[in-house]
Amino acid sequence: MRDRYGWTLISLHWLTLLLILAAYTLGTLLQDMPLSPTKLKLYAWHKWIGMLVLFLLPLRTLLRWRDGFDHRRDLRPWEASLSGGVHAALYVLMLLVPLFGWLHSSAAGFPVVWFGVLPLPDLVGKDKVLAEVFKELHGSAVNLLVMLVALHAAAAVYHHYFRRDGVLARMLPWLRRRT
Ligand code: HEM
Repeated sequence: MRDRYGWTLISLHWLTLLLILAAYTLGTLLQDMPLSPTKLKLYAWHKWIGMLVLFLLPLRTLLRWRDGFDHRRDLRPWEASLSGGVHAALYVLMLLVPLFGWLHSSAAGFPVVWFGVLPLPDLVGKDKVLAEVFKELHGSAVNLLVMLVALHAAAAVYHHYFRRDGVLARMLPWLRRRT
């Protein structure tokens, strides 16, 4: 029986983490930056990277579903329930965070041209009030996503150093199980 996820899913997992960290760092830095051509360029990168998270999500969901690896294996019942809930919430937030960002951009009247080549449709018309609503929703969803990513990472550390099981090695197969 396999004791890890498939390689494509493992690669997508770490790639998604890097993309979320990059989008988060850019989004946070941009908040206090004075308006300049650099700021606009970085905003574009923030949006392009965030949209990549959204576009990779169906592929990731499909692969996760087809992979068939049972993440509850070797877990206590409460660990299995908690991790199942956190994983589901992470998937929902990987959808909502970029989607709210895209809706905010559309409502604010700034269409997204993905990596400068692929114009994406506006999801809603220009509307100042809606733009504020989606900005707030984007910010709140980001905060929730960051909290859950931290909880998810803390759980991985707990499994590796305290439970000393092979849970982290399922996503980092070159890591040796601690004995
Ligand atoms: C995983 C993906 C993403 C993450 C982690 C992320 C994170 C952030 C963060 C931390 C901020 C600043 C804090 C805040 O507003 O509370 C921000 C702002 C912003 N994001 Fe994102 N974002 C993502 C995707 C997107 C996408 C796909 C778009 C648009 C297509 C977008 C558009 C914006 C805009 C326009 C702002 C500025 C809001 C303002 O202050 O007016 N974001 N994002």
